[in-house]
Amino acid sequence: MAKICLCLTAKTLKRNLEILDKYRKYADVTELRVDCLEPDERLLIRRFPEQAGMPVILTIRRDIDGGQFIGGEGVRINLMARGLAFAETDRRRNFAYLDIEDDLDVPSLEEAARTFGTRIIRSYHNARGTDANLTAKIRSMRHSGDEIVKVSVRANTTRDVLHLLKAGKECTDQEKILIGMGHYGTYSRILAEQFGSMMSYTSAFAETDAPPAAPGQLDVQELSKQYRFRTITKNTKVYGITGNPLKATSSPRFFNTIFELEGTDAVYVPFPADSIVDFMEVANHLSLEGVSVTIPYKESVIPFLNSMTDEVQSIGACNTLILTPQGWKGANTDAQGFSGSLLAFLDRENFKRQRVTVIGAGGAARAVVFELHRLGAKVLILNRTAAKAGQLAAPYKFASGGLDERETSKIEKYRDIIIQTTSVGMEGSGDSPGSADPLAFYNFSGREEVMDLVYTPKMTPLLKRASSAGCNVLNGYDMLIRQAQHQYTCFTGKEFPGHLLTRIQYGEI
Ligand code: ATR
Repeated sequence: MAKICLCLTAKTLKRNLEILDKYRKYADVTELRVDCLEPDERLLIRRFPEQAGMPVILTIRRDIDGGQFIGGEGVRINLMARGLAFAETDRRRNFAYLDIEDDLDVPSLEEAARTFGTRIIRSYHNARGTDANLTAKIRSMRHSGDEIVKVSVRANTTRDVLHLLKAGKECTDQEKILIGMGHYGTYSRILAEQFGSMMSYTSAFAETDAPPAAPGQLDVQELSKQYRFRTITKNTKVYGITGNPLKATSSPRFFNTIFELEGTDAVYVPFPADSIVDFMEVANHLSLEGVSVTIPYKESVIPFLNSMTDEVQSIGACNTLILTPQGWKGANTDAQGFSGSLLAFLDRENFKRQRVTVIGAGGAARAVVFELHRLGAKVLILNRTAAKAGQLAAPYKFASGGLDERETSKIEKYRDIIIQTTSVGMEGSGDSPGSADPLAFYNFSGREEVMDLVYTPKMTPLLKRASSAGCNVLNGYDMLIRQAQHQYTCFTGKEFPGHLLTRIQYGEI
């Protein structure tokens, strides 16, 4: 089973021990980054393994490999020798591992390590990119049979991660640690078992406020608790979410919490991807069972489907992939999530006799309009680019127009419900304060029911204005939870555990 290593990068040994004591229950191994210690402290490392009380990796990382050691090689080798000196027969008092770079050849050091059972981690770092032939690299690195090969390369693209994954599969006969550094490589750290990697390196961010010891490194608690790293085996079902940039997604917390509470042997992982084509190859290699798909791939994923629900066919967007014996099946749970949320809010069964204005004509709007039509509403679609609104409205014979004051009289005929589907008003969308309300030209009567699909912030400028005019308002959070519930059913074939719903809605889990 793959192990969690906690990297210790404090300036003093005392501080490192404090951090280790606080987080030891989440880690199996710890790495003493001697290069991060103050120079005087570096001379006192010999007793650290005994004080640590768990297997320790001795690492003195050079600046060229992403570390902080800038002295000469002689000094570095001397420090390593100092760490191994006066070896004890009780191995727990010695360093368990010594990290030696691929290009460092000091037979006496290796001999000293071997004599007292300190295993050598033969490491290679590429902070800029991923080498073309990783398999050959892994095969060539080991100097003797008992060494562990560590390859840590920067994954600049999803294709880079794919190379790492394939290389791991080709070298199953070898003990190794494989890491894809950077945002795109994050999941190589969670799915170490699937990548054929025996260790995942973490930091204790909450404690140190320091940047990660390497780009993309996860917090030790996050890896251990949220992803339940130690329970992930080759048999664990792997699900996840893909998109780009996929920086802030709450889905992993949602699904992993449910899997844990339900005792399901499954994990849900973020898969940021710069290419849907390459991600689908990753999905096949990792034997993913199901995938949530988000911006910008909801449409471009459709050519990869072997079958799809009527919703996907009509909406032209897919947010859920389910692995079937015949290949990938596409579903769209945004549609049900939307109508379930709005109908519950309005305490209605359908939208018959409701006249509705929809703002926007993108992917989200297509799911909304599909449901409004299915459930009997009369709809006006307004979009910045009026022609797109027209295209979306045409098959349903709905009204359409541009997003400006000339359409005010039309809105007045379709204002039982107003639904905002664009990203305008969303946190981090870069809107200037005055432009964050896409309906600024319209004065609410106070009788409209107003829904905004955005949920960060809870109240967008549009919702605030509507609420002050006396309207009932609803944001997109409940829709998000509902679409995830439907996804859970798509993935597992099980009903979503109803008793957990209120706890999720109140933010308890
Ligand atoms: P999504 O899948 O989130 O709906 P999308 O398919 O890219 O994303 O669609 C984005 C929608 O937001 C479109 O309706 C877009 O209007 P255009 O078709 O005119 O581009 C709308 N949108 C994005 N930024 C906007 C802005 N600043 N003001 C008004 N509408 C905007």
